[in-house]
Amino acid sequence: MKLPNITSSIFAVMSKMANDYGAINLSQGFPDFNCSEELINLFHKYSLGGFNQYAPMAGVPTLREMISDKTYELYSKRYNPENEITITSGATEALFTAITSVVSPGDEVIIFEPAYDSYVPVVQINGGKPVFIPLDKKDFSIDWKRVKESLTSKTKLIIINSPHNPTGSVISIDDLHKFEDIVRDKELFIISDEVYEHIIFDGIKHVSISESEELSQKSFVISSFGKTFHTTGWKVGYCSAPERLTKEFRKVHQFVVFAVNTPAQYAFSEYMKDKEHYTNLNAFYQNKRDLLLNALSGSRFKFTPARGTYFQLIDYSDISELDDMAFTEYLTKEVQVATIPLSPFYSGVNDEKLIRICFAKKDEVLIKAAKMIAAGDI
Ligand SMILES: Cc1ncc(COP(=O)(O)O)c(C=O)c1O
Repeated sequence: MKLPNITSSIFAVMSKMANDYGAINLSQGFPDFNCSEELINLFHKYSLGGFNQYAPMAGVPTLREMISDKTYELYSKRYNPENEITITSGATEALFTAITSVVSPGDEVIIFEPAYDSYVPVVQINGGKPVFIPLDKKDFSIDWKRVKESLTSKTKLIIINSPHNPTGSVISIDDLHKFEDIVRDKELFIISDEVYEHIIFDGIKHVSISESEELSQKSFVISSFGKTFHTTGWKVGYCSAPERLTKEFRKVHQFVVFAVNTPAQYAFSEYMKDKEHYTNLNAFYQNKRDLLLNALSGSRFKFTPARGTYFQLIDYSDISELDDMAFTEYLTKEVQVATIPLSPFYSGVNDEKLIRICFAKKDEVLIKAAKMIAAGDI
């Protein structure tokens, strides 16, 4: 067996508990509102128009061209749509495929904790060894000195995620420069999980690994239309990587899914022509974050506003001695709002008294739930 220690995910556990107790579910990371009608109509148009058979293995060419243009415009990096961009079945498949295409038994993979839950199992499926580096306790930034010290001759891959799930932290240009200094002349790869690239707040600009010519040469940069266009159920994402990496990536991709949903790809490529469909997302989610934080601001819950993603961490250490599992259980059963404890995002034992709230919810749901949580401050 490849994954003997994997059990039900915390998301499944908390969602079941939310259901059982009739709680508002702020645990799972997806919107409770619909995607745009225009996008649905485009999907319909292409499906009715007969675009229902296998797409090309690498993805629909017009969509790859749109991605290439967007990436160039935002990050000044031109990926060739022909041989450097691949459409995937969500970022999840892109992560699986990228890790599988470079990690072999015995290879070490640096993962920052807390971490999104799909990295470690895929490293393990491939016989790799996760090497965990904790993010800074205060602001969840990366300790580059520690990264440098953790590199060995076996380090094959570093996985970075910004904006970061679950903490909402983001990397800066300064991080990019430190990263460059550390991996210069090293034979290793980078996966940059940038699925929340269009959800970043307070005027901060997303820093993509693709902005560094040096780092991009070693990197698989991954994004997701699910996050950007409120379509997590369509499962479409993409991976941009230099030709030599894309070649290896596609060898695996063709045997994992071969190709990705055809009408969705055509729909996205047309929808993306209006840039506001993704440039407006920051303001849209910042407003939701602020609704949540305003409602919590009179309580003893403490927080630093998330800088990106649609997740907000809150600290309940002034309120309860319970560990985070027990506290989320209490919130679900007694307050009737389900959230996620932070500790399952760590490989070891952790009790920072932090919980994660997903604010990709309708305004009225968010305000109601936040007021209930604030009232749970007893
Ligand atoms: C950090 C991160 N990476 C990847 C994914 C997976 O994205 P997708 O739904 O496109 O597979 C998620 C989804 O929650 C995520 O939070």
